[in-house]
Amino acid sequence: MRITVPGGAPEHDPERTDLSDPHFYATGDPHAVWRHYRHKAPVTRLAVPGGRTYVSVTTHAETSTVLRDHARYTSRRGNMLSVLGEQDPAADRMMVASDPPVHGYLRRPVAQALSARELAARRPAVRRMARLLLEPLTGGEPWDLAAAMTAFPMMFTGALMGLPEADWPELTRLTTIAIAPADPSSRDDSGGHQLVSAHHELFDYFAEVAAARTPRQDLIGLLQQLTVADRTIRLDEVIYNCYNVLLGANVTAPHVIATTVSAFLEHPEQYRRLLDGDATVASAVEEGLRWASPATHAMRYATEDTRLGGEPVRAGEAVVAWLGSANRDESVFDEPYRFDVARTPNRHLAFGFGPHYCVGAPLARIALAEFFTEVTELVERFEPAGPVEHLASNFIAGIKHLPVTARLR
Ligand code: HEM
Repeated sequence: MRITVPGGAPEHDPERTDLSDPHFYATGDPHAVWRHYRHKAPVTRLAVPGGRTYVSVTTHAETSTVLRDHARYTSRRGNMLSVLGEQDPAADRMMVASDPPVHGYLRRPVAQALSARELAARRPAVRRMARLLLEPLTGGEPWDLAAAMTAFPMMFTGALMGLPEADWPELTRLTTIAIAPADPSSRDDSGGHQLVSAHHELFDYFAEVAAARTPRQDLIGLLQQLTVADRTIRLDEVIYNCYNVLLGANVTAPHVIATTVSAFLEHPEQYRRLLDGDATVASAVEEGLRWASPATHAMRYATEDTRLGGEPVRAGEAVVAWLGSANRDESVFDEPYRFDVARTPNRHLAFGFGPHYCVGAPLARIALAEFFTEVTELVERFEPAGPVEHLASNFIAGIKHLPVTARLR
């Protein structure tokens, strides 16, 4: 997704733009559309092709209200616009598709294992991985940073889950198809979508891994030993939650890195401020998260008739909270379209909000901070080295290709 500063004449009529169209995000300008709705109709009904509608929410306040209130806005029918109108087979079996109390049984132990305190000892290992990944930059040739970054999450999540290194590239490929089935890179040789087969392959993979293992001291072992209410977790629940953790990690963190470096290319003075110590790596990471907002939205369903931002919402309606829009809300962020590595406060919603707030956030923050610390030790200045390409996905605001070179320190 392009990161733009809306203003002047819009490229396209916002009210005629289909925000559910994945292809729009490969070349279009959703920020201009979101801004239009934030100002004109922050809570409004939009339609997808075929006529089905959803309630679109573009402000920070209403997004927070929806995500906070699991009783009024359920997650049990999936959180992605691409499954609008469908029942989610993972309902009450996968963390992100469940409500309390089931959600708590699945989430609490995982949250504990992924807490900043538990992960602190892994920082040096993550740093070594970052150094390894950045190695090609020292050769001086143009290097596709975005493509290279897709390998990063498996280096920490794959290790935490105890998955063999040989499987990491294929798992990365399958998770990308799962969230961006419409992207040309997700098509098979005959041009068909690979979504269903990617899902099957991932589920079969985790079924085999879980069935073959007696629980070990890793994240999969932890899931295998969970108690849900008064019974032991079932195999299907283990599989769904392995899938949830893997997907959550793989499809997000690389885009924060690529989008942040892309912002450094456009605003070299911001990178300079980081090198000069005018901003910490931690605050630059938070701004990178806000700027990139890799998960564009989170969907919920209203469980009862209610009102949101003064608008009626009917029981059973889908509600799509646009995180990318909330993160540019002028009433919360001072000059929201300014990339500012020292921004404080920075109450972004890139990790969501409320009970489903990203359980991997501490891990993502550690990985991003270690990565950018390594970058600041190595790189004096990034230079663009070719055209940027964006992912065709309405769920993940992603960069597929970002060729760069670097002047080293
Ligand atoms: C920059 C990186 C990341 C971003 C921007 C991000 C974003 C998000 C968002 C927005 C949600 C909330 C979805 C909703 O409310 O429906 C979420 C949930 C989740 N994320 Fe992340 N995520 C990131 C990294 C990770 C990592 C590294 C992991 C795994 C280790 C992970 C695993 C999960 C899981 C399992 C959930 C579901 C939590 C729940 O339902 O309670 N994420 N993430």
